[in-house]
Amino acid sequence: MRIVVLTGAGISAESGVPTFRDADGLWEGHRVDDVATPEGFARDPDRVQRFYDERRRALHAVEPNAAHRALARLEGALGEDLLVVTQNVDDLHERAGSMNLVHMHGELRRALCGACGARPTWEGDLVQRPSCPACGHRELRPDVVWFGELPYELDRIEGAVVACDVFVAIGTSGAVYPAAGYAALAGAFGAHTVELNLAPTLADVAFDEVRAGPASVVVPRWVEGLLA
Ligand code: APR
Repeated sequence: MRIVVLTGAGISAESGVPTFRDADGLWEGHRVDDVATPEGFARDPDRVQRFYDERRRALHAVEPNAAHRALARLEGALGEDLLVVTQNVDDLHERAGSMNLVHMHGELRRALCGACGARPTWEGDLVQRPSCPACGHRELRPDVVWFGELPYELDRIEGAVVACDVFVAIGTSGAVYPAAGYAALAGAFGAHTVELNLAPTLADVAFDEVRAGPASVVVPRWVEGLLA
């Protein structure tokens, strides 16, 4: 049985990583235009670098939760038949043990060189404009996909979505495309579609099955049901 799991900020919420559109979400404290667009970066690069430096540093204080761990357990049982596509830029899936994983919106723990295109893993801050390990130029930015930029590995993701038997969306509001269209695409190709989310979202109409609740409860329960 081939499964594609799409995760969003909601899977990391109980680990202490703020979501985007909930009441106390990230977009309450910052304007998307200022910190999540190429134009915002061009306008005030230091503000954008500091915003992601702060989020990168915050990763040291959070841990994967039971939902991340349940998906890693599922990969242990299904191997290549499970692909996790995450919109999240945190590293909690990796730290829980997931390996078949695509970060379609990039990663906080990676930098992107504006001069040579290299994507080195990166732990420290970028605001001091360190030099690129590959080309030496000092044009590193966070390797995070901003609004108006192309997400990563779209062909690989769409290939997996149209071929899967089960598509599961976890902790995502269905507000941002192309991720928001994957449930309907999977369903159109015959997959059983499941939404595991704290609250039913606007995208519910595209799901065969909706289980509401915190990810740390509903995801392990769903995985145990599969592995039973
Ligand atoms: N358990 C499960 N779901 C939760 C929990 C939880 N503990 N807490 C919140 N949620 C749900 C919310 O109900 C909401 O539907 O997670 C979803 C979070 O939605 P968003 O904050 O919009 O995050 P996401 O869907 O990942 O945003 C997509 O938008 O801002 C851009 O690039 C950014 O990757 C992000 C994309």
